[in-house]
Amino acid sequence: MDSGSVVIVGGTSGIGRELAAEYARRGRSVVVTGRDPDRTAAIACEIGGATTGLGIDLAEPDAIAGAFASVGPVSELVIAAIERDVNHIASYDLQRARRLVTLKLVGYPEVVHTLSDRFTAATSIVLFGGLAKERPYDGSTTVSTVNGGVSGLVRTLACELAPVRVNAIHPGIIGDSPYWVDKPLGAFVERTPIGRLVTMREIVGATIFLLECGGMNGADLFVDGGWLLR
Ligand SMILES: NC(=O)c1ccc[n+]([C@@H]2O[C@H](COP(=O)([O-])OP(=O)(O)OC[C@H]3O[C@@H](n4cnc5c(N)ncnc54)[C@H](OP(=O)(O)O)[C@@H]3O)[C@@H](O)[C@H]2O)c1
Repeated sequence: MDSGSVVIVGGTSGIGRELAAEYARRGRSVVVTGRDPDRTAAIACEIGGATTGLGIDLAEPDAIAGAFASVGPVSELVIAAIERDVNHIASYDLQRARRLVTLKLVGYPEVVHTLSDRFTAATSIVLFGGLAKERPYDGSTTVSTVNGGVSGLVRTLACELAPVRVNAIHPGIIGDSPYWVDKPLGAFVERTPIGRLVTMREIVGATIFLLECGGMNGADLFVDGGWLLR
């Protein structure tokens, strides 16, 4: 399982960074990516252990293959990158929408394509969607769209790459994540049966479960504290 690196695309912030820190603590060789090479290298240093950083912009997919040239065998691949687009049909911002659609629906598969010659039969992949695909929030038009696309993507990848396992995780709103932590979240909490929002630690745990449980494949795992139930 651990003959290669853990590669975390979008590993400089939020869930990706927490996951990188967890695998670094476990003594694994970790590669994190963010858009800016210098900032990403600095964050890799802060994460510590055997962590290195690469600068890759998934919204510019022609450059993805070259950016991964230095990466060797990959045991676990997690793609968590997002460049959020707060968008509405009434004021549709094409440029923002185009970047996010390209990032998730072209950038994610291009990363998998690029690294596929570095996979073994035991490699496993987790792609990040999100429950805005099921329950939109104000401004989530592009986010809801691309996170729906991630569900289709895992199904085709799990078939094409077999026996490599490919799963998706779809968190509800993660209350302590950098994007949401300072926003008013009371209405979301009220609808969540556990009486609070899910946490970054819980999403890291669920991601590790998908990566490491050999029976999980082609799944869309919802982790939301029951938020969709009411
Ligand atoms: N937070 C939540 O509540 C929540 C809920 C449901 C689903 N999700 C999903 O979970 C994943 C992680 O979310 P998060 O909130 O933890 O993320 P985050 O803190 O906003 O971090 C986003 C990551 O993506 C990278 N990134 C941004 N633009 C990029 C681009 N154009 N190309 C490549 N990388 C780029 C960022 O790196 P740099 O800034 O260093 O470039 C950073 O590492 C996302 O896919 C999101 O859709 C999150």
